[in-house]
Amino acid sequence: MSPDKSLYEPRQARIIGEREIATDTKLFELELENGERLGQDPGQFIELSIAGVGEAPISVTSSPTRGLPSFELCVRAVGNVTNALHEMEIGKNVGIRGPFGEGFPIDELRDRDLLFIAGGLGIAPLRSLINYVLDRRDEFNEINILYGCKRPCEQMFEDEVDNWARRQDIYHESTVDFCPDEVVWDGNIGVITELIPGVDIDLDNTYAVICGPPVMYRFVIEELDKKELPHDQIYLSLERRMKCGLGKCGHCQINGADEELYVCQDGPVFNYKRVKGFEEAI
Ligand SMILES: Cc1cc2nc3c(=O)[nH]c(=O)nc-3n(C[C@H](O)[C@H](O)[C@H](O)COP(=O)(O)OP(=O)(O)OC[C@H]3O[C@@H](n4cnc5c(N)ncnc54)[C@H](O)[C@@H]3O)c2cc1C
Ligand code: FES
Repeated sequence: MSPDKSLYEPRQARIIGEREIATDTKLFELELENGERLGQDPGQFIELSIAGVGEAPISVTSSPTRGLPSFELCVRAVGNVTNALHEMEIGKNVGIRGPFGEGFPIDELRDRDLLFIAGGLGIAPLRSLINYVLDRRDEFNEINILYGCKRPCEQMFEDEVDNWARRQDIYHESTVDFCPDEVVWDGNIGVITELIPGVDIDLDNTYAVICGPPVMYRFVIEELDKKELPHDQIYLSLERRMKCGLGKCGHCQINGADEELYVCQDGPVFNYKRVKGFEEAI
């Protein structure tokens, strides 16, 4: 199948693995029919369809450096498609269109200091880039990973987070907004912005890559502004309601003073300097 056709017509993919990794959230491993590779770049997403239910955009959470030809999706059950997927068993098929959109600018990030800031499910798209960077560690400079969730039971990818904590060549901090008394938690308690002052930022060399709930962006950027990190050294992954994934239906459009952007096609990853003037962006 040509890459263009795969943008319009779902390819069949089989669920070959699934496990619960946080409350209401499962990690699915899928394989395309005929063992084709998905061909995603870190930060891209697919449209996942379930016959008779519908379609939803989901980030590809696995790095193209790992596990080929299969790929992984980390999905929280919140509505029609995601709940139906959670009900499906290993061996069943779903439809996949894509991969779509502009992912993270890997060439620009190469040889730089990187500061990853992930909030909640925002770890899903960032994990693809984090694992890409860790698999090509010598192509990147300092790596800082800040990861925040509401409660300890919402933290995902426990093994990988433990690995970040053990490695000497990564600076990592995790935080939760709240920890119940009966739960053991080694990390920080407080909002993710509290962790930013502890990171060494080189204003000529550090790039921040952020993904999280909409409310997080404004406060994180305020904190980065205190460090005077230039806005063109900040990348964000944005979420909007989507339908076509192809820049055709207008569902994901954000409007600026004299320009409009389609999150599905121009993003979901945007340079902050480019979108900060778009009132609806953040
Ligand atoms: C680029 C991108 C990447 C994403 N990546 C992931 C990912 O990796 N993992 C993940 O779990 N999710 C991801 N999402 C979010 C996911 O696509 C949405 O949660 C999607 O709505 C789920 O589809 P659904 O059919 O299960 O839910 P829906 O049935 O669409 O319902 C989802 C929620 O939206 C509400 N809702 C439904 N229709 C509307 C409407 N018209 N207006 C406002 N609210 C409405 C529902 O009440 C419900 O609370 C991503 C979204 C985007 C845009
Ligand atoms: S989802 Fe249709 S234009 Fe973006």
